[in-house]
Amino acid sequence: AVPIIIDCDPGHDDALAIMLAAGDPGVELLAVTTVAGNQTVEKTTLNARRVCTVAGISGVPIAAGCAKPLIQRLRVADDVHGVSGLDGPRFPEPTVEAEAEHAVELLHRVLTGHPEPVTLVPTAPLTNIALLLTRYPEVAGRIREIVLMGGSTERGNRTPAAEFNIQCDPEAADIVFRSGVPLTMCGLNVTHQALATPEVLARFEGLGTVLGQTCAELLTFFASTYRRLWGFEHPPLHDPVAVARVIDPGLVRCVDAYVAVELKGEHTRGATVVDLHGTLGRPSNAKVAVGLDADGFWDRVVGAVERLGRA
Ligand code: BDR
Ligand code: CA
Repeated sequence: AVPIIIDCDPGHDDALAIMLAAGDPGVELLAVTTVAGNQTVEKTTLNARRVCTVAGISGVPIAAGCAKPLIQRLRVADDVHGVSGLDGPRFPEPTVEAEAEHAVELLHRVLTGHPEPVTLVPTAPLTNIALLLTRYPEVAGRIREIVLMGGSTERGNRTPAAEFNIQCDPEAADIVFRSGVPLTMCGLNVTHQALATPEVLARFEGLGTVLGQTCAELLTFFASTYRRLWGFEHPPLHDPVAVARVIDPGLVRCVDAYVAVELKGEHTRGATVVDLHGTLGRPSNAKVAVGLDADGFWDRVVGAVERLGRA
């Protein structure tokens, strides 16, 4: 199994990303770190504890990280994920605790202590990861690769040009994309193919477990906001796509490309500019996701939730 750490801001799709990582035998989840994004870091950390509690995930350390982006003000996505950041289901009182140390320290400790290089899977603004690479540059060699959910080869969602995770902290994203660490970007152009249709919901309900029911309720809430805000018929489950890419690279087809993060544009700040056709003549700095095996993806996600729910 590939050792990974998820850096997240749960968040409905982050919650499923954690479950996929904990429930699929293809990866070993070493830690969960949290950051401000979809909600404040206090709320995203509480939500990570809630998810681990309801999914029976124990022995995976959780640590809270940065409370705001490197430079700009935090603007949460309560319009998408609700006041709690994880609106919809009722969660039991969390029994899984968070560590006292900062996420960046936990990342550093796990990366340096693990016998083999570890894959980082950021599914949130890249503040913690940028801080890690800036404070501990020597740790880059301990990172096998960074497989992130963020950006797009096409249009954005937070603004017409920019995707939420990148737009929330463009300076952090810029540091990560220019770090030289092997990088894979799973953007909206593929995650918008991971649609939670009524058939998918029925599969979660059909598991007949509390966890399956919780997932169906999460997706029902997510569906309502995606319908209201963007007119989506079915909501896209972004973050688990990055985990799926690590589990089985064949599920997410990628091409090499040069990617720059726009920091200045009046209307385009936070956009990922992806040179798919090599017009700039610059060496590629990322693998960019361009295709998703949606059926294979859902089999893995439902399979993981089934395994966790039985335990
Ligand atoms: C990303 O933004 C967040 O709201 C989701 O959790 C996902 O990580 C999609 O743009
Ligand atoms: Ca997220």
